[in-house]
Amino acid sequence: MQAAANAVQDHMGPLPTVVNPEYKHRTDGSTMKALAWFGTKDVRVIDAAIPDITEADDVIVKVTGTTICGSDLHLYHGEIMTMQKGDILGHEFMGVVDRIGPNVHNLKPGQRVVASFQIACGECEYCKKKLSSFCDRTNNSSLQNAMYGQRDAGFFGYSHFTGGFPGGQAEYVRVPKGNVNLLPIPDGISDEKAIYLSDILPTSYHAVVDTGVEKDDVVGIWGLGPIGLCAARWAQLKGAKRIIGIDAVPERLAFAREKLGIETIDFKEYTDVTKRVYEMVPRGLDVALDCGSFHEPKSILHKVQKTLMLETDVPETINEMIVSVRKMGRAGIIAAYAGYANGVNVGALMEKGVRLIGNGQAPVHKYWEEILNDYIIPGKFDPTFVITHRVPIDDMAKLYAAFDTRQAGVEKVFVETKFSSKPDPGCPLTTRVDDWKSKN
Ligand SMILES: NC(=O)c1ccc[n+]([C@@H]2O[C@H](COP(=O)([O-])OP(=O)(O)OC[C@H]3O[C@@H](n4cnc5c(N)ncnc54)[C@H](O)[C@@H]3O)[C@@H](O)[C@H]2O)c1
Ligand SMILES: [Zn+2]
Ligand SMILES: [Zn+2]
Repeated sequence: MQAAANAVQDHMGPLPTVVNPEYKHRTDGSTMKALAWFGTKDVRVIDAAIPDITEADDVIVKVTGTTICGSDLHLYHGEIMTMQKGDILGHEFMGVVDRIGPNVHNLKPGQRVVASFQIACGECEYCKKKLSSFCDRTNNSSLQNAMYGQRDAGFFGYSHFTGGFPGGQAEYVRVPKGNVNLLPIPDGISDEKAIYLSDILPTSYHAVVDTGVEKDDVVGIWGLGPIGLCAARWAQLKGAKRIIGIDAVPERLAFAREKLGIETIDFKEYTDVTKRVYEMVPRGLDVALDCGSFHEPKSILHKVQKTLMLETDVPETINEMIVSVRKMGRAGIIAAYAGYANGVNVGALMEKGVRLIGNGQAPVHKYWEEILNDYIIPGKFDPTFVITHRVPIDDMAKLYAAFDTRQAGVEKVFVETKFSSKPDPGCPLTTRVDDWKSKN
């Protein structure tokens, strides 16, 4: 699939953008550790050239914290088109400003910053509204444009389908348009509290706000990974009356019950999820949130269709949501999807008047200041509840395998570099992925 998609993209040629994804290297030839993709389930920590200022709006960030996201698993499984061998992955990171381009006036070397996972231009119609993930001018993928009619912003470390920008699972990152894509972090806020402003906090918040969770709603959440857990917490803060989380990983179900006090459904125990939802909530859910994964089919039907490439994406969760919500209920898709799915229950969608909402890639710029100032600083939302492990960047390749198979109750991981501070009190201490395995 990758070869064919790359050939199509090459044939169409790149679309014009205001940023160039390729970076200049430091002239002294110095290198850094970075995680690169080489094929399905083949990622490696390599020595890569350290980026230098390439365009006048660039900032080079020395990374003090990075992580892995459920979205990276789609790349790991080769499910996103136009990956190329050697691509540096990672789209959630923070650090210290190392170098700034001549056009950057709002940041200075030494300042602590978080990067948004999307690279926005800051000036287009979407950026003016802070809808940074929808920026029109930073993604050169003609393939995405042909498939979707339009294209998202460029993203860090997320294939050439989203612009081909080297990512943040590295010791240094070049941040194009650094003047808009970096948020300064006050001294009193630890790296563990700040880093997730890059993605999972705005993403889970967007899922809840954009799908319209209101006071007294009964909310179902498919997938209890970091996004699902944070969405549950936001739904609680918005006044949801009941929250039901659906997953099959025993540690994740237990984590949701114990840390958040929500109800759960184990879809391996209750194979008919919608039946179980109606046993628990006879009226149906007010809101359903898809925080799962499009590449994990449950039924033989979809396993076969996906294997035969009759569909790229699996609609099982979408169908369960459409059936489980009440008439005129809302169902939001924040989980990533890439292409086409067969057998969507369009009848129930229409007849019940279900508001099915594609939430899109979350516009981080719209929410990150609000989340920092109104929730993290006053202590209303402590993102560290979701961190289960901390590992060094040397273990990044092993972390992909462990996170993919959800070993040792892993939820969110803080990945440290040689530039990281010591773990903040109360947060996980450094472990090695090999040691998690031996405990299983
Ligand atoms: N839209 C955005 O901006 C954005 C940003 C970040 C992540 N995401 C997406 O959000 C999703 C969740 O991210 P994460 O980091 O929590 O991922 P994760 O892989 O850690 O968690 C996904 C969870 O979904 C569960 N799951 C899989 N199939 C299921 C099914 N049929 N029913 C119920 N649960 C199911 C898995 O067991 C797993 O626990 C991913 O698809 C990711 O790509 C979207
Ligand atoms: Zn992500
Ligand atoms: Zn823009």
